[in-house]
Amino acid sequence: MAETLAALHAASFARGWSAQEFEALLANPTTHAITSPHGFALLQIIAPEAELITISILPALRGQGHGRALLGKTILTAQENGADTLFLEVEATNAAALALYENAGFTVTGRRTGYYAYPDGPAVDAITMTCALQTGT
Ligand SMILES: CC(C)(COP(=O)(O)OP(=O)(O)OC[C@H]1O[C@@H](n2cnc3c(N)ncnc32)[C@H](O)[C@@H]1OP(=O)(O)O)[C@@H](O)C(=O)NCCC(=O)NCCS
Repeated sequence: MAETLAALHAASFARGWSAQEFEALLANPTTHAITSPHGFALLQIIAPEAELITISILPALRGQGHGRALLGKTILTAQENGADTLFLEVEATNAAALALYENAGFTVTGRRTGYYAYPDGPAVDAITMTCALQTGT
């Protein structure tokens, strides 16, 4: 599982996480992996709060609604595990992710200036977002 997630992650991010990093994350009982044939998401749930650690869709399969569907499954997993709030952090330049989250009901709660540092380019701000979940209780 860790090897597969590392390969999927490397296809989407400039600095992919290694299989060892995924192993460490998955060993944590608060981490939930949501997989699909198109991509995966990782959630950390410490009820009543959950955090979306990462979500990605294989590059060739983007723009076809798979991200929206996977985010929906991820939100459901958070709800089923007692979360009433979902947090995330996203690069201010990531238009696709911002659109995905805004369309799913997330609102912007803050901006961390220069949060993402890159050795070969300017730092990028982080946008923090949150979404209230229905607990179904
Ligand atoms: C962000 C990501 C998961 C979206 O997945 P996707 O399958 O392409 O998204 P979808 O086709 O389901 O589109 C979801 C919404 O975002 C919008 N969207 C998708 N790509 C977009 C783009 N490039 N620019 C603007 N809006 C975009 C769609 O219009 C859609 O809106 P709708 O719900 O009103 O129809 C995908 O682009 C990805 O894997 N990116 C690399 C990894 C990443 O940046 N992850 C997020 C940060 S952790």
